[in-house]
Amino acid sequence: MQNLPIYAFGLCAVLITASGIQLPRDPVHFNDDGTFKIVTFTDLHYGEGPGTEQGPANDLKSTKVMTDILRWEHPDFVVYTGDLMSAEVMFPNGSVYVDMLLKPVVDGGYRWASTYGNHDIGNNVTREEILETEQKYNLSYTQHGVDGVEGTTNYFVPIYPPKNVSNPSEAPSLILWFFDTRGGRNSSGGIPAYVHETAVEWFVQELASMNATWGPIPALAFFHYPTAEYSPIHDEIDQRPECPGQHDDIVTPQERDTGFMQALVNSGTVKSAFVGHNHGNGWCCYYQSVDLCYNRQSGHGGGWVGWTRGSRVITLNHATLWGQTNSYIRLENGTFTDFFPSLGHNAVTLMMENQMDFVIKCVRWMTERQCSLVTVTETAEAKYMEKIHGEMKEMVWMSPGCNPPSQYVDKFGRIVALYPGTVSSYATEIRNFSPNHLNFIK
Ligand SMILES: *[C@@H]1O[C@H](CO)[C@@H](O)[C@H](O)[C@H]1NC(C)=O
Ligand SMILES: *[C@@H]1O[C@H](CO)[C@@H](O)[C@H](O)[C@H]1NC(C)=O
Ligand SMILES: *[C@@H]1O[C@H](CO)[C@@H](O)[C@H](O)[C@H]1NC(C)=O
Ligand SMILES: *[C@@H]1O[C@H](CO)[C@@H](O)[C@H](O)[C@H]1NC(C)=O
Ligand SMILES: *[C@@H]1O[C@H](CO)[C@@H](O)[C@H](O)[C@H]1NC(C)=O
Ligand SMILES: *[C@@H]1O[C@H](CO)[C@@H](O)[C@H](O)[C@H]1NC(C)=O
Ligand SMILES: *[C@@H]1O[C@H](CO)[C@@H](O)[C@H](O)[C@H]1NC(C)=O
Repeated sequence: MQNLPIYAFGLCAVLITASGIQLPRDPVHFNDDGTFKIVTFTDLHYGEGPGTEQGPANDLKSTKVMTDILRWEHPDFVVYTGDLMSAEVMFPNGSVYVDMLLKPVVDGGYRWASTYGNHDIGNNVTREEILETEQKYNLSYTQHGVDGVEGTTNYFVPIYPPKNVSNPSEAPSLILWFFDTRGGRNSSGGIPAYVHETAVEWFVQELASMNATWGPIPALAFFHYPTAEYSPIHDEIDQRPECPGQHDDIVTPQERDTGFMQALVNSGTVKSAFVGHNHGNGWCCYYQSVDLCYNRQSGHGGGWVGWTRGSRVITLNHATLWGQTNSYIRLENGTFTDFFPSLGHNAVTLMMENQMDFVIKCVRWMTERQCSLVTVTETAEAKYMEKIHGEMKEMVWMSPGCNPPSQYVDKFGRIVALYPGTVSSYATEIRNFSPNHLNFIK
C-alpha cells in the first residue's frame, strides 16, 4: 500500500482533485497569538423530504444554525463530521444540496474539511460526487484517501505553527485525522459501517512515517460513527459529573472492531475523537489516552424536533498542545454550555479533583461510623506498591542512569510521589473507593 505523500501537500500545499485538477491550498497555520479554534457541524441531513414543506424549511433552519454560530465564534477552521445530507432520498441534483450546506462557510470565507456518514450515499449520489462538489471551492481541505484504502474520506490535514514562529523542519504542529466509517446503501446494496482494516493500516503506516520525519505530533480524530468504546461510558455517564453533555440517545457504534480505537490509543498522539451519528448525544468523556466526544447535532434535518441544535467548538493553544485543550457546545440559541477540558498527560487538576473526591468519601464514611482516624490496610498498601513498582520497572526514572540519587527514588530504593499511568487511569482507579482497603479507628 502506498503512503500519502506528506510533502506533496505539507510543503507544496497542492491538492489533486478526483478529476485531476490541481488547486492551490494554502497551508493552515495557528494564529500569531498561538490560538486555533475549530467549529464542528454534524448531522445536517440536508435535502430530507425534498417534496414536503418541512424539508426545505429544515434546511433553511440548518443554514441559520451554521451562519449564527460562525458569526459568534469566528473559527479558524470548520469540520463536518458526516451526514451532511440525506442522500438516500435524493434525485440526481444532490450537488445542489452540497453547495447549499457549504454556503455559510463559503460566504464567511472559512476553511473546512469533512468526513462522510452513512447518509452521504444513495442510489443517485456517490461520495465521490459530494467530494468533487466540495473540491470546487478553494477553501475546502477535504480529500480522497489513497488507492487501496476502503472508504472515501480517509486523510489528514496538517496545521502549522504560527507564521511568526520559526519552523526550519517545516513540521506541522497538529494533525487533524479524518476517517470514513462508511455505511448506508446504494443500488449495489448495503455498505458495512466501520473504519476498514485498510484504513487502520494506512493510519499506522502514515503515523510511523510522520514520526520518523518529524517526531510525534499531537492530533485530533474526526469520524462519523462512534466506536464500541463509547457504549460502556455512555451507560454510566450519569455517574460521571466530569463528563458533561447531552445523552438522550442510544449509542449505535461501528459494526466491527478493526482495532481502530486501539490504533488511536496506541498512536500516543491522538488526544480526542469527535463523532456524530447519534443525534441526541453530545457528551465528552475520558477514555485511556483518547478523550471520546460526540459533536452536537447541527442540522434540523434528520427527523427529530425536540433537541436544541448546536456545535462542538474546539479551542487549541499552540503552547499547550500536549496539555490541556478545551471544547464546549455553542447552541443555536446562543447559549454556551458543556465545557469539557481535554486534559492531556499532565493533568494535575483532574488528579487533584479525584483525590478530593476520595477524601470526601472517607470523611463521610468516618462521620457515619463516628471514627477519628483512618489508615490504609497493610495488604492494600503492599498490593498497590507492588503494582506501581511493576509498572515503574520499565520506566526511565528506574533505569540505572537515574537510580539513586534520583528525585524519584528514596534512599531505600523506594519510588516516591509518582504515579506511572495516565491521568485518566489514575482517575478511574481512585474513583473506585473501597472501604475494605481502609482501617476505620474509633
Ligand atoms: C508572534 O506574534 C504575536 C502577536 O503579535 C506575539 O505575541 C508573539 O510574541 C510573536 N511570537 C514570536 C515568536 O515572535
Ligand atoms: C431536486 O430535485 C427534486 C426532484 O425534481 C426536487 O423536488 C427538489 O426540489 C430539487 N432540489 C433542489 C434543491 O433543487
Ligand atoms: C433517483 O432519481 C430518479 C430520477 O432521476 C428517481 O426516479 C428516483 O426515485 C431517485 N432515487 C431515489 C432513491 O430517490
Ligand atoms: C481559487 O483560487 C484561484 C487562485 O487564487 C482563483 O483563480 C480561483 O478563481 C479561485 N476559485 C474559486 C472558486 O474561488
Ligand atoms: C455503492 O457504493 C460502494 C461503496 O462506496 C461502491 O463501491 C459501489 O461502486 C457503489 N455502487 C454504485 C452502483 O454506485
Ligand atoms: C516515534 O519515534 C520514536 C523515536 O524514533 C520511537 O521511539 C517511537 O516508538 C515512535 N512512535 C511511533 C508511534 O512510531
Ligand atoms: C437554549 O437552549 C438550552 C437547551 O435547550 C436551554 O437550556 C437554554 O435555556 C436556552 N437558552 C436560551 C437563552 O434560550
